[in-house]
Amino acid sequence: MSAEAYAPFEENTVTDEHEIELGRRYQLLLNAHLAGAGETALADAYHAGRAALGNGVGVLDLVTLYLSAAERALAAGTDRAHTASVLTAVKSLLLESLSPFEMAHRLYRESNTALRLLNDALEEQSRRIARTLHDNTNQLVASLGLAIAAIEQEPGAKRARLAEMRTALEQISDELRRVSHDLRPPALDELGVIPALEHFAHCLFGLTDVDVRFLGSTGGRLPPSVETVLFRVAQEALSNVARHAKAHHAAISFQRFDSRVTCTIYDDGRGFDSATLAKRADRGLGLITIRERLDALGGKLDVRSTRNTGTTVTATVPLGGSHADPGPARR
Ligand SMILES: Nc1ncnc2c1ncn2[C@@H]1O[C@H](COP(=O)(O)OP(=O)(O)OP(=O)(O)O)[C@@H](O)[C@H]1O
Ligand SMILES: [Mg+2]
Repeated sequence: MSAEAYAPFEENTVTDEHEIELGRRYQLLLNAHLAGAGETALADAYHAGRAALGNGVGVLDLVTLYLSAAERALAAGTDRAHTASVLTAVKSLLLESLSPFEMAHRLYRESNTALRLLNDALEEQSRRIARTLHDNTNQLVASLGLAIAAIEQEPGAKRARLAEMRTALEQISDELRRVSHDLRPPALDELGVIPALEHFAHCLFGLTDVDVRFLGSTGGRLPPSVETVLFRVAQEALSNVARHAKAHHAAISFQRFDSRVTCTIYDDGRGFDSATLAKRADRGLGLITIRERLDALGGKLDVRSTRNTGTTVTATVPLGGSHADPGPARR
């Protein structure tokens, strides 16, 4: 077996175009291990794995490269001892090369968990602030309004000025209610995602010509984290329809399957070009944020848009083992 030296595996030096070269290098790595390079070859196999990860070479490609190298090495001899040593060498090298992938996978899982916990904490914070604004702050504003109304009845009161103050207080109260609903709509916890979205869509499109329809069903209540993410996705997609699409029609459709639920938001507006969007320095955060939120629950976001035809945003969320049924459902 030849012990020809192989070039070090570095990130960004190996690309798809160098597949043949890559195959040759894995072959040399295997040969070196078979020739007794031992620990050095294993360390290089680890670097090969890191380089593969950095250069976007997939696990299947990596395994295929090792298998091809093994095939060629096996063809060089027929006795059992040779076969056994090739198989042992390939196994050791492959395990070393795969360990960076394993580590990356573990990190990905951990960061997903952290993101999920962060989103839960943010929602809880929103819920708390919304409740404080709605219950406490708005109560104070209401009692101030009552006090002004009482003063208005006193002899010599400057009624016109007091009426102006009362109107201003009513506006503050409406604004507080609106902000508290935007932060965390009570209907989301009390009635579920569809009623909460119907209310949201009514506020957003109520005074416009856009025809908005709801289709399908969630098949009852879903786990709170799933309802929250679906609400946030549809909230963002509908806000985008209102802000960017110039659409005549929009629809929100839900479909429930055994192990997943999907929510699709369509519009027949002016659409956009995804390739151009990716390069735009001023691109917003809405779609990126909902993609990350879905990612944290193991879900995915699919955005399809065609200029002058419209946009379709589909969120798919997996449903874990038990589907909690935390409350009454309208659909
Ligand atoms: N339904 C749609 N119709 C037309 N264009 C859209 C639609 N949805 C998104 N876009 C385009 O994609 C861009 C990115 O959307 P995204 O929600 O990520 O950011 P944004 O709405 O611009 O800002 P943000 O959501 O951070 O306030 C928008 O600026 C818009 O050009
Ligand atoms: Mg947006």
